[in-house]
Amino acid sequence: MRTRIAVLVSGGGTNLQALIDAARRGELPHGELALVVSNNKDAFALKRAERAGIETAVCLRAKGEARVDFEARLVEILEARQIDMLILAGFMAILSADFVARWPDRIINVHPSLIPSFCGEGFYGLRVHEAALDYGVKVTGATVHYVNEIPDGGRIIAQKAVDILPDDTPETLQRRVMEQAEWILLPRAAESVAKELGMRNEE
Ligand code: GAR
Repeated sequence: MRTRIAVLVSGGGTNLQALIDAARRGELPHGELALVVSNNKDAFALKRAERAGIETAVCLRAKGEARVDFEARLVEILEARQIDMLILAGFMAILSADFVARWPDRIINVHPSLIPSFCGEGFYGLRVHEAALDYGVKVTGATVHYVNEIPDGGRIIAQKAVDILPDDTPETLQRRVMEQAEWILLPRAAESVAKELGMRNEE
């Protein structure tokens, strides 16, 4: 049986698209992109999922709502679809220790820097690239890692370095890191974790 994957998103969804494209090319044989969940109802990622015929769900955290209540709804959505594995692909929310403990070694995240640089709370999206440029590093990259209770602190699965060019802006750097690292690493890591989970389930 293929590992049933939910992809959690918040925005544009280019990493989701990389997963969809890889699956279409037959590069995700051990995984099934069964569900896309967004915590933002306007996320373009939802359109990408619909276009690809993947079921979608929106799980919003209302202003002032306790994280535990938001996560309880998220768990319900995931359990109702018998999801085995989660991929955080531009998901802009930090999950609690209790939530991640439900899915040990079953949640992976893509982060747009070479962890442990420019990561942790407050480092997400363009801010990561702004921080790299402000610091003046000459090389950055992307990391795919398991998710544990420490933001961006789980075991590293794969990393790829990307050069910073003299004229880079956060936007040009973000694009290069996506093209040269994220969109390549994430589908490969997804397949290897899905395969590993599939083998574990058969034991
Ligand atoms: C990606 O660069 C992803 O690595 C980053 O947000 C962007 C989402 O783009 N994620 C984080 O910063 C998480 N800490 P996408 O919606 O086009 O995939």
